[in-house]
Order: sequence, then C-alpha cells, then structure tokens
Amino acid sequence: MKLYEPHQAHSFDLHGLEGISDQTLEMHLKLYEGYVKATNKLRTQLYEIIKDGKVDQEQMPVYSELTRRLGFEYNGMVLHEYYFSNLTRGSGGLPKPQGAFAEIAKDSFGSFDLWRTDFASVGMMRGVGWAICYLDPANGRVSNHWVSLHENGNIAGFLPLLVMDVWEHAYLLDYKPSERSDYIEAFFSNVNWKMVEERMELGVPAL
Ligand SMILES: [Fe+2]
Repeated sequence: MKLYEPHQAHSFDLHGLEGISDQTLEMHLKLYEGYVKATNKLRTQLYEIIKDGKVDQEQMPVYSELTRRLGFEYNGMVLHEYYFSNLTRGSGGLPKPQGAFAEIAKDSFGSFDLWRTDFASVGMMRGVGWAICYLDPANGRVSNHWVSLHENGNIAGFLPLLVMDVWEHAYLLDYKPSERSDYIEAFFSNVNWKMVEERMELGVPAL
C-alpha cells in the first residue's frame, strides 16, 4: 500500500484575463506544475527513508533537509492553486464584491475600501512572497498577511480566502518590477469573488 497518493496538477483555463497576459499565465502554470512534481518527489524521497520504520543518525541530516524543503514546495503548490482558482475572466472588473465578503471586510476593517487598501499595501511589500486575506474561523473576521517565499507567515488554522502571488514571475512579462501596483490593480479586476465567498462558507463558525 502506498503511503500517499501523488498530487495531480490541476488545470486552469484562464486565458483572456484583463491585464495579465496569456503568455504570463502559460509560463506561470508551468512553474506551478514544477511545484507539484517537486512536492511528489520530496514525499517519495521521505517515504524511502522512513519505510524501514526508522530514521537513523546517518539519515537524519538528509531527512531534515528534505522535510524543510517540503514546506516550501508544498505551500508553493497549494498557494498557486488558491491563486489561480481565485481568478476568472469576465469578472467584469467589479470594483468591489456585493455579497458576504463585502460584509465581512466591512466588519473587520470598517469599510471594504480600507480592507482593499490594506490588501494592496501588503502586496506592495518589498520582497518575494504572497499577499493573503485569511478568515479566522474562530471569530469570523478577516485579516491580510504577508507570506515570505511560500511558507513563512502562513497562519495556522486560518483559511485563505483571497491569495495574490507577488513574486515577480507573476507579472514580469506584463509589467516592469517598478509597476507592481499596476499588476495588483489587474489582479483586482480579475478576482473571482464567487470563489472567495465559497471559501468563506467552509470556515465561518456555525455559532
Ligand atoms: Fe507564482
């Protein structure tokens, strides 16, 4: 029996977005597939080490390094899946969502516009990483966070509602490095708010 099932790369049909070219998406999806392969490979390598029922002293340095790398590759894979699936063409470039997310953003930040300013500002932070709006399932509030690389800064138990890749590969074919704010505006004009609200339903406490 296998210890785990290898992850299969999801397919995303996202051509025709506003301000994010098909060329960028094609390159970006290939990069995502690389994370899927690397995750599966690491898990296989780790299984090979533990299958004898022990990790001896000699194996421990390799086991440790592979396990650390798993956090990078695994989060890289999963965050890209969140990112691609919270984009859609033909979202109409709505300046703001009309439904439950608009309400929760207002409750958490005072207004949707303040939430948006905060999210965009997190996305403008210098460095390589992600801007993520999480739902805290304990209180039904949202907060925006910076995640360095893929794995540093994720909040345990929080549910990602909206995920924005701000690694330069996400926009460098369409914008200069100094034009990240233009990419962020393009991102907003393609957000699949319906998906964001579906994610909310998974995490809102029943109380
Ligand atoms: Fe990316």
